[in-house]
Amino acid sequence: METFLASQLKSASGGPAWKADVIRRLNRFVRGGKLLRSSLVCYSYRLFEQEQSDSLPGAILDVAIATELLHAALLIHDDIIDDDDVRRGQPAIHRQYSDLMQKRPAAADHFGTSMALCAGDMVLSMSFGLLAGADSIRPGTVGKLNNLFADTLVTTAAGQMQDINLGALANRPDKRQIYEVMRAKTAMYSVALPLIAGAITAGQPSALYRQLQGLGLIIGTIFQIRDDELGVYAKTETTGKPVGSDIREGKKTLLHYYVWRAASPQEQERLSNAFGNPDASASDIAAVRKIMTRHQVRKHLQLDVDTLERRARQHIDRIAMDRAAKQELCRLVAYCSRRKA
Ligand code: IPE
Ligand code: IPE
Ligand code: MG
Ligand code: MG
Repeated sequence: METFLASQLKSASGGPAWKADVIRRLNRFVRGGKLLRSSLVCYSYRLFEQEQSDSLPGAILDVAIATELLHAALLIHDDIIDDDDVRRGQPAIHRQYSDLMQKRPAAADHFGTSMALCAGDMVLSMSFGLLAGADSIRPGTVGKLNNLFADTLVTTAAGQMQDINLGALANRPDKRQIYEVMRAKTAMYSVALPLIAGAITAGQPSALYRQLQGLGLIIGTIFQIRDDELGVYAKTETTGKPVGSDIREGKKTLLHYYVWRAASPQEQERLSNAFGNPDASASDIAAVRKIMTRHQVRKHLQLDVDTLERRARQHIDRIAMDRAAKQELCRLVAYCSRRKA
């Protein structure tokens, strides 16, 4: 990633000044992430590559970087959508840009948003550009990866739109709708895509992609359930993200579903002080947490995760691969369900 960004920075000299500006910000931005998606590409490639060797071909690293940049672009836009000021322990990219407009505060928000939308587009384009060298691994790989990335991005954008839409509606969606959003906005690009990209670059047949998609959607849903839980219960120092932001935005997460289902009329009143209220205070959020704890919301989440973990293991059992490889995939499931950051 460092090498790639350094080469991009070099090629930016003499071109539009903002390109170099985005690359410098991107450099700081990617350092703050867990690098899960890029690691998963390498992990999947190693699982499925027949000719085992110690080093990874450079073209695999490019595919891995491409998934990380796809993620970065989505996060830049996501923080605009969710109106979040902090990401990876730093000001969100749209906030970094709005801070440049200190002399005209009234125009700052729109300026920041506009700049970050363009930065997101730039990063997304770099992501797709990185796929171009993948035919050096084996012919036909670029076309398959391009289709995978493009289809996934459409699914993710539609998932984000549904997340926004459910958040804006007053009625409470059912569990099926909440799961659908988690699969579309997160699971597909975060877990299914990297696993499939690894299998494609390892030259595996398309029947395996379908199995990995099914598995990736389950594991990615576990990942998102934990993301939502950490967003309420963890601290900014560990997640690098604001606490209670989903509540202020009125997001229809699984936590929202379980707490509203169980709350008494008085508790519902307190919940409505915080849910969908961008100005809810830290103590409003703490009150929601208390009501959630009273109704054992985290225990309900755990039961959902347990069910998903069982389904994931059944899925893994059906994939034709050796025992050691299956154990590797089970370890991935365990990581996503027990992660603390
Ligand atoms: C956050 O993903 C966004 C989701 C899809 C849940 P990560 O938790 O992987 O974020 P980083 O990359 O470590 O910052
Ligand atoms: C992120 O979903 C999904 C995408 C980036 C496409 P969230 O909005 O739930 O993730 P965080 O909590 O902001 O990282
Ligand atoms: Mg968000
Ligand atoms: Mg979001």
